[in-house]
Amino acid sequence: MKYVRMPIEIESPEEQGYDTIRYNLSESSMRDRKLSDLGLGVDDLVLAYGAHRGAPGLLGLIAANAKVPDADVLCTAGAAAALFIIATTLLEKGDHLVVVRPNYATNIETPRAIGCDIDYVDLAFDAGFQLDVDRLESLIRPNTKLISVTTPHNPTGVALSEATLRRLIAITEARGIRLLVDETYREMSFVPKLPVAASLSPSAISVASVSKSYGIPGVRVGWIINRDPKLMERFLAAKEQIGICGSIIDEQIAEVALGQSAQWLASVAKDLSIGVETVATWIAGEPRLEWVRPQGGCVCFPRIRADAGIDVERFYHVLSADHAACVGPGHWFEQDKRHMRIGFGWPLPAELKGGLAAISASLDAAKR
Ligand SMILES: Cc1ncc(COP(=O)(O)O)c(C=O)c1O
Repeated sequence: MKYVRMPIEIESPEEQGYDTIRYNLSESSMRDRKLSDLGLGVDDLVLAYGAHRGAPGLLGLIAANAKVPDADVLCTAGAAAALFIIATTLLEKGDHLVVVRPNYATNIETPRAIGCDIDYVDLAFDAGFQLDVDRLESLIRPNTKLISVTTPHNPTGVALSEATLRRLIAITEARGIRLLVDETYREMSFVPKLPVAASLSPSAISVASVSKSYGIPGVRVGWIINRDPKLMERFLAAKEQIGICGSIIDEQIAEVALGQSAQWLASVAKDLSIGVETVATWIAGEPRLEWVRPQGGCVCFPRIRADAGIDVERFYHVLSADHAACVGPGHWFEQDKRHMRIGFGWPLPAELKGGLAAISASLDAAKR
């Protein structure tokens, strides 16, 4: 494995120091919650090794939400570890995969570290970031092992339609290829939620976590769902070799959080609709930017218009140096830096408005 640190991690707010940032518009989750918000008592928790697949109560909640049997779920240390386990289980050096780009960096970087042969399906701004399934299909080869998509998508917020998801399943089933669907933002859909992909076919592998919609990314709990018991056994073997079982405390917290999903997700939906409207109103009055309105998640991926006469490097410099504000710059996603990811779920309303005003002021200062 050839590991390379990713810009999105090196430049992340937690690595820069949260206290150095005034307007943090770079996050891709809801506002972080405190342990006391969950009202759980863990004093009597026995700190033994946990069940290797995940705590039974936690598996049950995940499985019920996905409409699959408990045995089809494997808990992991966040969706990040789920993606790592899937890539290292299914792919070897030289194997071919097709992956959507831009993407959450790990979806691309782990296959790269393995030494895979990768084809990218680029999501184009001018096509509304819609997935071109014909193009994706044309890239499949006899040695293609995996097709990897994300919905709702990070960083664009665009969601697949159910017809597209079913077509991807049909394509992969017909060729004996696995379909990885990163559903980390599924609970934050503004359009009707898709079925969990893994519930539709054993060829589909679903990944998600409590990080984003539950606002608890420091609790490292995610999961893999798949209906092929042999494949699940291999995923479990990978998990056991990495860490035996999950963190008992993290799993307990995740179980309590998922148990409160009805109330919590309703309040998340309200906050997201206020956040996305705040961005929409601001963009409507900001002629130097254009965007594709997101259909889910808590981020969007606007760009500075090519003819706006903006010195892009200066823009980012002023944003950080003069306003202590940050967004996710395009290079985090291997895109032109005219693009920026703006998170509207994490900042509180005043911080979001202040950060958007800081972006406009930085565009003023970076005018050529
Ligand atoms: C699409 C997507 N997948 C997976 C992850 C990993 O999240 P976690 O490991 O915190 O569950 C992220 C985090 O940004 C993401 O955006």
